[in-house]
Amino acid sequence: MSKQNYKLEIVLSGQEIDQSINRISAKISEDYKNAKPILIGVLKGAFIFLADLSRSLDMPVEIDFIGASSYGDKAQSSGKPKVTKEIGINVSGQDVIVVEDIIDTGLTTSMIMRHIETLGPKSLKLCALIDKRERRQTDIKIDYAGNIIQEGFLVGYGLDFNEKYRNLPGIYKLEP
Ligand code: PRP
Repeated sequence: MSKQNYKLEIVLSGQEIDQSINRISAKISEDYKNAKPILIGVLKGAFIFLADLSRSLDMPVEIDFIGASSYGDKAQSSGKPKVTKEIGINVSGQDVIVVEDIIDTGLTTSMIMRHIETLGPKSLKLCALIDKRERRQTDIKIDYAGNIIQEGFLVGYGLDFNEKYRNLPGIYKLEP
């Protein structure tokens, strides 16, 4: 699928994303008052959200990443996401929050949550900036959600199309 000539239509501005992050970080700070959670960002898309969310939290955290990919260079999920980079920190007995840029079909995150469960964390929660529901294929609980967006191919703020657009400060829909 070629999206070279597509237009970008703004869906969430950088300012609106900041507001979502402030709301999420206030809730996480309240829920983890006496804890030191480990934030696990899902590469690559979550790198910007994790950077901003972690700096917005007024509490000690540890940070690591897990690699997962289901889309490759395609717009359609392969339906078989794989772990491409393992977590480096020992999460056994720890409070873990998985940080995702977007939950779409839910297949990637379901696989990651199941995988991290096998590592024996004390608790495991999910935080996602975008809850996109039109293609959801699994029942997945998002403990800390930023914005619900029903449909569209989204890019920017970590999200890519063919590795492009990740560095845009807002989130955009690719429109023909
Ligand atoms: C994207 C995104 C999520 C996943 C969500 O990753 O970062 O991890 O897809 O889609 P799903 O809910 O349909 O599984 P992608 O596989 O595109 O890799 P990337 O983060 O490296 O771009």
